[in-house]
Amino acid sequence: MESMGELKRSHNCNDLGTANVGETVTLMGWVLRRRDHGGVIFIDLRDRWGLTQVVFSPEYNAEVHAKAHNLRSEWVLAVRGKVSARPEGMTNPNLTTGAIEVMVDDLRILNVSQTPPFPLDEITEVSETLRLKYRYLDLRRPGMADNLILRHKASQAIRNYLNDNNFLEIETPVLTRSTPEGARDYLVPSRVNPGKFYALPQSPQLFKQLLMIAGMDRYYQIVKCFRDEDLRADRQPEFTQIDMELSFIDEEDIFRIMEGMISHLFKATKGIELTTPFPRIDYAEAMNRYGSDKPDTRFGLELVDLFDNVKECGFKVFRDVVEKGGMVKAINAKGCATFSRKDLDDLTAYVAQYGAKGLAWVKMKEDGEWQSPIAKFFTDEERAAMAKTLNAEPGDLLFFGADTPAIVHTALGELRLELARRLGLINKETFNFVWVTDFPLLEYDHEQRRHMAVHHPFTAPREEDMALLHTDPGKVRSRAYDLALNGTEIGGGSIRIHQPKVQATVFRALGISDEEAADKFDFLLKALEHGAPPHGGLAFGLDRLMMIIAGRDSIRDVIAFPKTQKATCPLTEAPSTVARKQLTELSLRPDWKE
Ligand code: AMO
Ligand code: AMP
Repeated sequence: MESMGELKRSHNCNDLGTANVGETVTLMGWVLRRRDHGGVIFIDLRDRWGLTQVVFSPEYNAEVHAKAHNLRSEWVLAVRGKVSARPEGMTNPNLTTGAIEVMVDDLRILNVSQTPPFPLDEITEVSETLRLKYRYLDLRRPGMADNLILRHKASQAIRNYLNDNNFLEIETPVLTRSTPEGARDYLVPSRVNPGKFYALPQSPQLFKQLLMIAGMDRYYQIVKCFRDEDLRADRQPEFTQIDMELSFIDEEDIFRIMEGMISHLFKATKGIELTTPFPRIDYAEAMNRYGSDKPDTRFGLELVDLFDNVKECGFKVFRDVVEKGGMVKAINAKGCATFSRKDLDDLTAYVAQYGAKGLAWVKMKEDGEWQSPIAKFFTDEERAAMAKTLNAEPGDLLFFGADTPAIVHTALGELRLELARRLGLINKETFNFVWVTDFPLLEYDHEQRRHMAVHHPFTAPREEDMALLHTDPGKVRSRAYDLALNGTEIGGGSIRIHQPKVQATVFRALGISDEEAADKFDFLLKALEHGAPPHGGLAFGLDRLMMIIAGRDSIRDVIAFPKTQKATCPLTEAPSTVARKQLTELSLRPDWKE
């Protein structure tokens, strides 16, 4: 191995072009590819910025050429040489440096490398576990490095925008008390306080509210949050929020400022001008039309309510459902009457995963007749009326869901997405934002037999619904909002409760006793009694935003060192066992065998 010695890098591997021809330059980087052509050796030298072709020719420098014979993939080099124009027909227009090459007269091998476990030059299908185990190699691959660079640009753009809008970046503790956001906490035992635990924050929610009470007025933080929950493609146990809170504002102010931030972000990262204001839809309408509180509005296939059509119909399944307070809804898949029996069976199995007990369907024939297992249960008039409600024409395929509202919305909402995928209705170049407003404040949890906060317990109820808190808590609408982008929830927040009395009422509605509230949130209730300004805010999931901006299907592709679906890190092998002594120091008594 050699040292860089007196060599200093003069350019990066994406810098050089025809303007540099004739200059002597020094590049440093990794061997991506080596090609031997009739005695001449070509190396693609790679760094974070790009590639440059460097050439070892026996005529140009025999000694260096001989040394270049040994070079292998991913060895680390410093080369000095002369920039020359590539010969006619040998240029590569797809490469920034594709018009030149560097004729090498000094080569230093700074380090060697084992053969990488997968090729690094293209997006080859490699198992994710292997990619994560060798993440430092995976990140050398062009697409992955681009994602991290894009993420850096995004964070900078966000910081710039928020700084320009009078936000202060303030750090909040990581070793803290539980902040309920609906997931399990990660706990950290305290050595000096035996039997006591810190919780890693699920979000900085309470601290940012305390900062408003402290008069900071506008706060932000790009911050790690920790949630012990079941993982999916868009969920990690630790993830990053762009967390914000503002004083003396209402929903309109927040929407405007956030639309400004998102527009600035899209301009900076993708060069796209977004149209603002973003559309808005209230929760009830989102569920009604899309069966989802994060609707993908890039395509139609909306859900249509058939209550009036089926409440007295001859099909017992449908009639029974609405008589029991359930609902019947349908989707008209335009022009899909050509679907095969297998397609229909597949889709029936698909919705069954979401609890649907069946998936009745109707193919609209040319003569207006129904081809359908349920045709016989309806009169001619009923069929005609239903076709009218659904705007059904010959060639269309209708799908029906009948069940509780929750099951119908989930099953048909998912069917809608699956149909759009199958029919190629999703334009990947479109970015459809939608604010979803007026979420319910509470939802009933049948397992725990009590109401739970839909957003979190610090969200303000709508004033006109306050009285319902005592009579019909499930009906109370909140001042919470989410921002959905192409069917993904990228952010959420609310106007908060700033009056201690209201906070106490909401705790009670949540089945949190006064004692429990005092035990867990005494500091918040006290703080609210010391001149809390009206305030509110929200948090975006930076990983999810980046996943969409980078056009990836998983947030793991935009996180440098993500965890697997089982919350493990194949690279460091975290989580790991610890010595018994460490546990005893923490006053923990393991009940497993070593
Ligand atoms: P919420 O729980 O909605 O709100 O979280 C805000 C946003 O964070 C992202 N997110 C996640 N991203 C990746 N992995 C996860 N496990 C994960 N969980 C959430 C989502 C989500 O929209 N304190 C409130 C915000 C507020 O009220 O101001 C909060 O945390 O994109
Ligand atoms: P059955 O009379 O049970 O054979 O059902 C006739 C048709 O109705 C079949 O195509 C079933 O898939 C469908 N079906 C049954 N129950 C439901 C339901 N709850 N929602 C939608 N379709 C259903």
